[in-house]
Amino acid sequence: MTARPIDGREIAARIRAGVAAEAAALERSSGIRPGLAAVLVGDDPASATYVKMKRKACEEAGLASRVIRLPAETSQEELLSRVTELNADPGIHGILVQLPLPTQIDERAVVRAVDPDKDVDGFHPLNVGRVALGELDETFVPATPAGILRLLDETGVELRGAEAVVLGRSAIVGLPTALLLLHRSATVTICHSGTRDLASHTRRADVLVAAVGKPGFVTAAMVKPGATVIDVGINRVTDGDGKPRLVGDVDFDQVSNVAGWLTPVPGGVGPMTIAMLLENTLAAARRAPGVMGAAEARR
Ligand code: GUN
Repeated sequence: MTARPIDGREIAARIRAGVAAEAAALERSSGIRPGLAAVLVGDDPASATYVKMKRKACEEAGLASRVIRLPAETSQEELLSRVTELNADPGIHGILVQLPLPTQIDERAVVRAVDPDKDVDGFHPLNVGRVALGELDETFVPATPAGILRLLDETGVELRGAEAVVLGRSAIVGLPTALLLLHRSATVTICHSGTRDLASHTRRADVLVAAVGKPGFVTAAMVKPGATVIDVGINRVTDGDGKPRLVGDVDFDQVSNVAGWLTPVPGGVGPMTIAMLLENTLAAARRAPGVMGAAEARR
């Protein structure tokens, strides 16, 4: 069997075009242009690249975008005061503070300071709780898990009753992905570093989500024939020729001989995360006070 690829680039492009059309319609009908603020503290090159990509995607979709760059030695007090200003700014509907933050800053305090109604990352405990409870219309689902579910929906694979196995239990990816699968009535197992006989779990999976951050961790022997495999890993490896390249957590060449569907890296989950962030920003603008009735906004 050769697995069918799930083309995250094409799906994400469609979602971004949809956001652009809906944002333009919202602006025509209400005068409100959805706005995203990204706060970047310090000069971590990966974080700077992510923020740049988010800004560019906003601009391409016709959303307003503001980037607030702060020096690495910024105090927690200063950062909290910037977040408070953005919370009060009616032109900003979504706020994201790019993580990780420098060590002098308490990340948890910053995440809690973002207005839950502008928390387009879905990291605030109130929004995490809403995801846990399945109140998905009232929250912001974190971008990567939301993107994973969208990719699964694109395959048409039935999630109800499916055996779903999630490798990794991080607060940003593994845990919320498992909750979303549970809310779709999959039978969900979360595997982690303490799991015994990992392959006995993964081999039962109709849907396997790998988010462990280890290149080539999932081998063909761990995959049920015909399974749908979503690779969340983005690992930089260097080949014999010294050239760096990106690989996922799944051994793509091996697993594509066994799986039914498989996401590539790059070009699978990665492009979806920015598309889902734009959707969350549009949703935040629609829910903002004065745009329209709350019930209408949730439709
Ligand atoms: N750092 C790595 N991923 C993310 C993300 O999704 N949002 C934010 N704010 N920071 C990150």
